[in-house]
Amino acid sequence: MTETVVSYARTPMERLEPSRFWHTFSDMNKVSQGPKFIVERAEGPWLWDDNGDRFLDGTASLWYCNVGHGRTEIADAVYKQLTALDAFTVYGDFANRPALELSERLAAHAPVVDPRVILTCGGGESIETAAKLARRYWAAEGRPGKRHLISRTGGYHGLHGIGTGIIGMDRFRSGFGPMVEDASVVPHDSVRALEEEILRVGPENVAAFFAEPVIGAGGVYAADTDYFTGVAEVCRRHGVLFVVDSVICAFARMGNWFGIERYGVRPDMIVFAKGVTSGYQPLGGVVVGGRIAEPFWNRSGNPFHHGTTYAGHPTCCAAAMANMDILEREDLFTVAYEVEAQLDAAVRTLADHPLVSEVRSGTGVMAAVQLTEEALGDRGITTAEVFAEARARGVVLRAIPHSLLISPPLIITWEQIDHLVSTLRSALDAVAQRHE
Ligand SMILES: Cc1ncc(COP(=O)(O)O)c(C=O)c1O
Repeated sequence: MTETVVSYARTPMERLEPSRFWHTFSDMNKVSQGPKFIVERAEGPWLWDDNGDRFLDGTASLWYCNVGHGRTEIADAVYKQLTALDAFTVYGDFANRPALELSERLAAHAPVVDPRVILTCGGGESIETAAKLARRYWAAEGRPGKRHLISRTGGYHGLHGIGTGIIGMDRFRSGFGPMVEDASVVPHDSVRALEEEILRVGPENVAAFFAEPVIGAGGVYAADTDYFTGVAEVCRRHGVLFVVDSVICAFARMGNWFGIERYGVRPDMIVFAKGVTSGYQPLGGVVVGGRIAEPFWNRSGNPFHHGTTYAGHPTCCAAAMANMDILEREDLFTVAYEVEAQLDAAVRTLADHPLVSEVRSGTGVMAAVQLTEEALGDRGITTAEVFAEARARGVVLRAIPHSLLISPPLIITWEQIDHLVSTLRSALDAVAQRHE
């Protein structure tokens, strides 16, 4: 595919519009001084800005648009639900059909023993739910001292209170004071380090261990094939709940329902969000093992005092059901394995680029292209520059301090992958030339 450098019909200055909108996760000092990139519409793996220029969505927005954009089938399901029942609480014995059906469907596919399903509005909210439930479970079992939460370096678990407290990247924690006092982080690739930390803290104090099947936002780090078997065994032996954060890895991104199936283990809880609706509506949740549910479901006078207004929102559940229909009908699980191999083969060709120190890919439809220390250090190159060059050439990627991240919709074609990777190469070339 020929490479195009997008020529804005309006100049950046004309595109500058003053606004009071505070962009999430962003440096408003920079963002408020530049033009906004307004996404006007999207279809399949493509986005169009308000200038009519087309861009390849190399990140499925934020790792969520698994089925691709513009699926009218999901829009229709949302419309139908909104006009039948817009919303109503699920507190107490209130329920709605989409929430009940979705819970059954998720439970049928989850690699969790005797699953129950708690629904939320997103990933971070689900992490809070799982962490509070872990602690509350141990309290209900007469072991209230088991409060400590362990997570992994590079692990990302959202930016709510507990998520911030257990995140494996210091930069997201600084300036907030201690969010969770009983928490620690272990190297992401060592079962031994996890066991040593459990023994250091004391198993009688540890509630749960949190891990992503593949660390996503932290830079795409896949585990060794036997890592999770070891983790499950250590957690079982020391009475620590094993919580899998599949917010990125589920709903076919790793070729299966929840990502963790790749490793043949059954966690105590699985946190999900994003791909459950492919982002068409905000939804997340926790699949909870029957053992953890037992004190709450089978004992009287022991409610789990936790929940939010929009939990089990029927419109979001209807979107999830329609999204899952697409995943199944188009067998995006099998497709994902093919795309994973294609992306892996294509992105690895960048390993020879002088600015690139490492390419991580090959487990799930996701990849990271890391820049060399020399480029990031002495040469003063930033991943933001590469991101900007790629976007100016019509490809949207995600930049973290050391890497460019790629996680396209699963319906991306071989030609589009090729276009994405060759555009990234041109962007790297342009940045390298600028810093010569
Ligand atoms: C693994 C993981 N957990 C949790 C979250 C938080 O989800 P949300 O942004 O919906 O709160 C994210 C978001 O990227 C994530 O990648």
